[in-house]
Amino acid sequence: MKNKITFDLLSEDRIKSMLHTKFLAQKIYAFWSVGSTNEFAYRRALLGEKEGTLVIAEEQTRGRGRKSRSWDSPFTKGLWFSLILRPDLPASKAGLVPYLAGVSVAEAIENYLNLKPSLKWPNDLLLTDKKFCGILSEVEFMNGKIHFIILGIGINVNHKVHDFPEQYRNQATSLRIEVDKRIDRADLLVQILSYIENNYLLINNFEEILSKWKKRCPKFGEEISVIQEGEKYDGLFEEIDNEGFMLLRLKSGIIKKIVAGDILF
Ligand code: BTN
Repeated sequence: MKNKITFDLLSEDRIKSMLHTKFLAQKIYAFWSVGSTNEFAYRRALLGEKEGTLVIAEEQTRGRGRKSRSWDSPFTKGLWFSLILRPDLPASKAGLVPYLAGVSVAEAIENYLNLKPSLKWPNDLLLTDKKFCGILSEVEFMNGKIHFIILGIGINVNHKVHDFPEQYRNQATSLRIEVDKRIDRADLLVQILSYIENNYLLINNFEEILSKWKKRCPKFGEEISVIQEGEKYDGLFEEIDNEGFMLLRLKSGIIKKIVAGDILF
C-alpha cells in the first residue's frame, strides 16, 4: 500500500518543486485528510490569508458540491483543492470566476493529456458525456465588492470504474479511465495552476474567457431543458450575460434568466 501511493503524494514540497506559477500556490496547506478544502480556505481567508493560497487534501470527509450536495473525494484518487482569490471586481462579477476555472482546467487537460473536455453549464467538465470535474466557488462580499472568492475544484483523476458507486458509473468518469493510464496528480495540478494564473490575468477581459468557454460547450446555441428550483424550462441557450447568468430564449420568445439551474441531458 505504502509503495503504491508515495510517488504520487501531494506534499507541499513536491508541489513547490514542480510549480511554475508566480502568485498562485506560493503558500500551500496540504492535508492528508480534511473536512472540505473550501471550508478550510474560507476560514483562512476570513483571517486575512493572502491571495493565491492553495488548500489541497488527499481526502475530504465532507467534500461539498453545488446546491448543498456532497462531493465524493476518496483518498489519493483525485485532486481536491481550493484557491483563495481576491479579484478587484464589483460584486456583480463574482459569477464569472467559475467560467475562468472551467476553461483553465479544460485547457490544461487538453495540453497535458491530449483529451478534449467539454463544458456543461454552469461549471461541469465532461469527457465522453460523463462528469469528471466539478467547480464550487464561494464568495464573501464587503462594501459592495468581492472580499474574496474560494475557488474549489474537484477532479476525478485516478479512479478505476469500480471506485465509483454503482449508481454513478454511467454519469461519472476519471482521467485514468479515459486515457487508460495512471496520472501523476502533482504534475497535473501544477499545469492547471499555470492555466488558471494566466487566465486570471485576463479577468478584466471577460469576453475572451467567455468566448473560450462557449467554444467548449456543445449545448451553447442549442435547444436545451433546464431545471431551476423544481421548474423545468425548455428553450434556446442563447447567451451568457455579463454577470455569468444563462439567458434562455423560451418558446414564447421571452428571455428567461437562469441563475442556479441544471441542464438536463
Ligand atoms: C459540483 O460539481 O457540485 C462542485 C464540486 C466541487 C468539489 C470541490 S473538491 C475541492 C473543493 N472542496 C469542496 O468541499 N468542494 C470543492
